[in-house]
Amino acid sequence: MLSVVAGGFFGDEGKGKVVAYLALSDKVCAAVRVGSVNAGHTVFWGGKEFKLRIVPSAFVNGGCKLYIGAGSLVRLDVFFREVNTLGVAGRIFVDRNAGIIEERHVETEVRDEYLRNSIGSTLQGVGAAMVDRVMRRLKLARDFPELSTYLVDLVDEVWKIINSGGNVLIEGTQGTYLSLYHGTYPYVTSRDTTAAGILSEVGLGPKYLDEVIVVFKSYVTRVGSGPLPGELSIDEVINRGWIEKASVTGRIRRAAPFNHDLAKRAVILNSATQVALTCLDKIFPSSARVKEWSKLPPEAKKWVEDLEDVVKVPVTLIGTGDDVTHMIDRRKDLGVVT
Ligand code: IMP
Ligand code: MG
Repeated sequence: MLSVVAGGFFGDEGKGKVVAYLALSDKVCAAVRVGSVNAGHTVFWGGKEFKLRIVPSAFVNGGCKLYIGAGSLVRLDVFFREVNTLGVAGRIFVDRNAGIIEERHVETEVRDEYLRNSIGSTLQGVGAAMVDRVMRRLKLARDFPELSTYLVDLVDEVWKIINSGGNVLIEGTQGTYLSLYHGTYPYVTSRDTTAAGILSEVGLGPKYLDEVIVVFKSYVTRVGSGPLPGELSIDEVINRGWIEKASVTGRIRRAAPFNHDLAKRAVILNSATQVALTCLDKIFPSSARVKEWSKLPPEAKKWVEDLEDVVKVPVTLIGTGDDVTHMIDRRKDLGVVT
């Protein structure tokens, strides 16, 4: 079984929480993270907060092997710091062909006024490294002796796991509308963030895929520049309790109410089979920490059902609080195979 988790808006939809939940509940034996260190995934688990920039959020399942895909771009300092802090050495592996971001890539971006002022880049060197990759001069993971014990042929490993009946989860990064091809260009990141792009970064084709889970937050946030339909004033964002700080750059996230048009298009762009919704408690406080569908207030249920009518895909997972365990899992009730 192969599943992909992709962001449906502008990143920060809560993919980390969704992946961590699935890793714990679905006996996931392998999890692959794509993208790069500009994307931070936050996981609250066991009373602790983890901010992950490269290690897959599935690390919470100690029996899960962790992988970084060929299309990813890794910063060695970030990688080794996270591996050591989380104690995942021995079960984390990097595709031989993953790209490596070097100091000069960060310096190039930091010097770039257009990226900083017009685009609002995170300036983590990701785009500059991608340029070098396209120009065929980027060094890959296989070129760094300090990574030698971590290297694998990921396609071969994942293929074997899928064929032996194992459950594999691929964790996308950022969101659909930050896609280089399908997002709000030029206010986008340096990769295709949709399910097809995520699969391509791992090295698997669409036929092997069983589930595409698109994650929406119950309101929309965006960091950096670019259009945000229905954007609220900062006072209104604070009023509604939607104020958030970006996990990599610390910037305040812009916010707007949930956008059904964007959601509908994201479902198509990702060929979603399921929707995971996060932060329902931020629009219906009475749903906070609820774990059963039947215990949701009627207005929250109706809101979710109206969303299903619009996107024509079941809302299978609903986050109702910070912790990984604050989740309503409707997959059995809705007859979605788990
Ligand atoms: P860059 O990819 O770091 O150059 O950033 C380009 C745009 O994508 C900026 O608006 C960033 O704020 C945004 N961006 C990049 N990564 C993330 C993410 O993980 N979450 C949210 N926004 C992101
Ligand atoms: Mg994030």
